[in-house]
Amino acid sequence: MEKIEGIDVQNHKDSSRILNIQLDDDIIKKLIFPFNKFDLTALELKPFTRFTIAKSLDDLTNNKLSKLVNSVLRDRSTGCFIIGPKNISSKTNDKFLVKLSTAIAHLIGIPNYDSMAGKYYARFHVKHEDASDSYLRKAYRNMDLHTDGTYVKEVTDWLVMTKLEEQNVQGGETAMLHLDDWEHCDDLSNDPVGQQDFIWGSPKSKNIDYKVEHPVFSFDKEGRPKISYIDQFPEPKNMEQGNFLQKLSDALEESKNKIITKLPVGHSVIANNYFWLHGRKPFKENKELSRELLRIRGSFFVN
Ligand SMILES: [Fe+2]
Repeated sequence: MEKIEGIDVQNHKDSSRILNIQLDDDIIKKLIFPFNKFDLTALELKPFTRFTIAKSLDDLTNNKLSKLVNSVLRDRSTGCFIIGPKNISSKTNDKFLVKLSTAIAHLIGIPNYDSMAGKYYARFHVKHEDASDSYLRKAYRNMDLHTDGTYVKEVTDWLVMTKLEEQNVQGGETAMLHLDDWEHCDDLSNDPVGQQDFIWGSPKSKNIDYKVEHPVFSFDKEGRPKISYIDQFPEPKNMEQGNFLQKLSDALEESKNKIITKLPVGHSVIANNYFWLHGRKPFKENKELSRELLRIRGSFFVN
């Protein structure tokens, strides 16, 4: 692997399709000053400041980090990386991690407006008790494999998921599946029902007042399948579509080729949203359970 000043790049221990990028203490130290120039309000209200911190991060790697992450994300054989500080300290607190995630996202593209949060990113808790209307915060349920952005008009090429904090957590591992590793990919992507338009709605908490239509499977320029799917939001129009979705859901969940991994606190997973599915294993019950996550979804730069 190419040597890049200040960062350690390896294959992830659980998958050769995922790159593991660790930022040396020295880079973290050098980011403190440029990151302190903007508070979160500035980043939320002035989009150009996000590019300023992204540039600070990239400059510290002689602009090699942006090249690396963009090539990994577009490469069908990989398409995913995990990145975070090699060492977590009081300096790498939640605000620092929001800024770091912002910087990484802005090396890749433009974030979508997150209607749930009313800004370009969303922070949310998973806790013991939950009264929400989606599986996102339900700790003791399996969050089934899915892609993001299935029910919005915005293009969702990639997503960033960062673990800001967690306490008293057992279980809750990240589950990832690459389409090309999925036993049923050929079978289901070539099923004509999977290429029909489905209607996609969303529950109230998502703050989306429209529905969209698109198929589950489509194909890229090279003829390789892409997927846009989440279990909770398609509204099957008939028996054929209902049965297809059930078959799809079963075939995804029973896959033996899922990668189950524990994301360390302070780390982010960044994945191509067309050929990677993601989910979460249930947590072990604990009244003190607490996890805070951040997500950013967006499109690639188009120049
Ligand atoms: Fe998701």
